[in-house]
Amino acid sequence: KWKEKVFSGIQPTGTLHLGNYFGAVSKWVKLQNEDREVFYSIVDLHSITLPYDAKKLEKNVLLMTASLIACGINPERSTLFLQSQVPEHTQLSWVLGCLTTMPRLGQLPQFKEKSATLKDVPLGLYLYPILQAADILLYKATKVPVGEDQIQNLQLAHSLARTFNRQYGETFPISEVLVQQDCSSRIRNLRDPTKKMSKSHPDKRGKIDITDTPDDIVEKVKKAVTDCTSQITYDPDNRPGVSTLLTMHSLISGLSPEEICEENKLLDTGRYKLIVAEALVEKFTPIRQEIIKLMDSPEYLSKVLQEGQKKAHLIALETWQEVASKIGT
Ligand code: ADP
Ligand code: NA
Repeated sequence: KWKEKVFSGIQPTGTLHLGNYFGAVSKWVKLQNEDREVFYSIVDLHSITLPYDAKKLEKNVLLMTASLIACGINPERSTLFLQSQVPEHTQLSWVLGCLTTMPRLGQLPQFKEKSATLKDVPLGLYLYPILQAADILLYKATKVPVGEDQIQNLQLAHSLARTFNRQYGETFPISEVLVQQDCSSRIRNLRDPTKKMSKSHPDKRGKIDITDTPDDIVEKVKKAVTDCTSQITYDPDNRPGVSTLLTMHSLISGLSPEEICEENKLLDTGRYKLIVAEALVEKFTPIRQEIIKLMDSPEYLSKVLQEGQKKAHLIALETWQEVASKIGT
């Protein structure tokens, strides 16, 4: 019944770190290349839910656009656009907000984590997953490729779709959440492997950006915290440090983590780190160079977003009109 459509979003907080790359963007590229209809949004309205620098945001949007293109998102095949340029996202989020409750939002792990250290919690942070649901439903997406940290937020999107459909008639598909199956795609902070790699973790040395120089990459991988076992084994629950190195290596090489363990069974973690660092440098050097090149053409990057806006807006407007007529506004 539903046409297959892929939607996902990323916040324009500068460039991508390896968690974003391996957990999400590498999958986006794959889906695009499988010739599916794909929508990828730079979700700037999400990024203002926590304190940010308005002057930097504009540059960060361009940097994220360049980063996505350098990673293989082809604007001819993907609709790549800026969330705030399509006003129906916020319009639909209001309607969806009227269909859920405060306790339902308050219990979401991402909200709890992000608000834990704040004295005053912005309302926008609380509404974040509602806007995320609107992003997805506006395009009637059937597949949503994300990292595993997003699963609970997407369950909320599903329940909002069901509630809307029940109340106003069949309107939205229940999307399938695409999370990496073969190995855990949760990339851990290299200095604090019990936590995920994220822009917001205070220890920046535990995060590798795709724009890091080869020296930075080698340095960060060398200092990655593993544990007191020197053997290379894949065990994400009990050995998150070395397992994150194996996950990244596996996703680059196409070999399974077990195959990589077998291949490197004579090495200790110290020597193995050098191999991982080398693989990362080889993978990300051409991407970094492409980003530098693209950042020299800000007009081109803005044009890509404008073209994306036109394509996205056509669909968003159609869904919004359907919603507006159903809810009686
Ligand atoms: P961040 O979590 O760094 O603020 P975003 O919220 O913009 O980044 O997330 C963009 C995408 O990257 C999401 O699909 C998210 O699931 C994925 N992602 C973020 N961090 C990681 C990680 N450490 N491991 C795997 N996927 C991740
Ligand atoms: Na996130």
